[in-house]
Amino acid sequence: MMDTQVGIVGAGPAGLLLAHLLRLQGVESVVLEARDRAYVEARVRAGVLEQGTVDLLSEAGVGDRLHREGLVHQGLELRFDGRGHRIDLSELTGGRAITVYGQQEVVKDLIAARLDAGGELLFEVDGVTLHDLEGEAPTVRFRHEGSEEELRCAVVAGCDGFHGVCREAIPAGTLSVYEREYPFAWLGILAEVAPSSEELIYCYHERGFALHSMRSPRLTRLYLQCAPDDDVAEWPDDRIWDELRTRLATDDQWTLGEGPIVEKGITPMRSFVVEPLRFGRVFLAGDAAHIVPPTGAKGLNLAVADVRVLSEALGAWFAQGDSAGLDAYSETCLRRVWRVQHFSWWMTSMLHRFPGGDPFDGRLQRSQLRYVCSSRAAATTLAENYVGLELV
Ligand code: FAD
Ligand code: PHB
Repeated sequence: MMDTQVGIVGAGPAGLLLAHLLRLQGVESVVLEARDRAYVEARVRAGVLEQGTVDLLSEAGVGDRLHREGLVHQGLELRFDGRGHRIDLSELTGGRAITVYGQQEVVKDLIAARLDAGGELLFEVDGVTLHDLEGEAPTVRFRHEGSEEELRCAVVAGCDGFHGVCREAIPAGTLSVYEREYPFAWLGILAEVAPSSEELIYCYHERGFALHSMRSPRLTRLYLQCAPDDDVAEWPDDRIWDELRTRLATDDQWTLGEGPIVEKGITPMRSFVVEPLRFGRVFLAGDAAHIVPPTGAKGLNLAVADVRVLSEALGAWFAQGDSAGLDAYSETCLRRVWRVQHFSWWMTSMLHRFPGGDPFDGRLQRSQLRYVCSSRAAATTLAENYVGLELV
């Protein structure tokens, strides 16, 4: 039997950052993770950090490597009909910017900070179940290193991602689910080659969306819209490069650098929200509570925004018995969640080819793209959402 103040399920960005922010306020927690450390540190996912995410990580003392190695971008490119159009993010948002820094690097930095501080972080736990969620002392049961364990806590934080157990532990009928599935997916690759552009390129093409991103001066991250039921085996390297060259081609002969593909994966596209984000003493944060399609680069940033609110609310509750923040947690977070849902849906709808769509759809998409690239008001809408709104 172990006792702690906050039992945190999941050592993704949400769970690890929550543990770190709580420790800074003197609140104890135990983090339980199903996978091993090497696995979570190598998992390639998001890469774009909003200004507010970077500021929070810096203030929390885990931003040193991020500042050394992260790539600060002040603009991005929208490419369609063979031409690129730059959106000047910083000029349109009073100097704000995004930083390209892989999610797994954030995870490595947070794990190092946790272990340096002597905090409890258990990898390879199995069979996590939640109990007594409506009482004063909820418990988390699990197996670790061959023995059955029970963690008694004051609060459980469900940070275990979309496929986790915490959301499912809440009685059926308590949560409302809002969901949309898209009729396409993203094939993502990591290639050992210098990026072919200094900034991200979001490309609309009649064969489907393509995205040029990066991880470092020697690693390029690229994505292609594909069918939701495609298997990576259907995408040999040559086919991927052919398709990327075709979709990203410009009238002025821009060339895409190619190199060995070191990672390949397919991600389904979905919008998903449960409401509320709380049941009794369990609080859901990050992907456990909501999923956005990756087109707006928001998933990780939204997880960070949730745990910022949750850590402050828990800090006030443990220190002063003030429950106002916890009572408002769900409503506070859901305002940002829905803003980001709309933005991600809008970017996704503007940039992808919808199977079965008719020429009318394509005309609307091109008109919207031209409008964003020619109207300062429309470009500002994209820019302020992309770098992250301070107030929602
Ligand atoms: P997660 O990172 O999912 O962390 C949850 C953690 O809980 C994991 O470590 C998991 O192993 C653990 N866990 C799960 N179940 C249990 C259990 N029962 N017991 C204990 N531990 C458990 N966003 C973008 O912006 N751009 C992208 O390109 C992008 N690509 C993505 C690709 C994939 C395949 C996925 C799944 C997501 C992607 N996202 C992307 C979204 C972004 O990565 C997530 O929004 C972000 O990881 C959310 O962090 P989180 O901590 O809430 O959840
Ligand atoms: C990435 O670099 O992985 C990335 C960038 C922008 C997105 C999604 C993913 O919108």
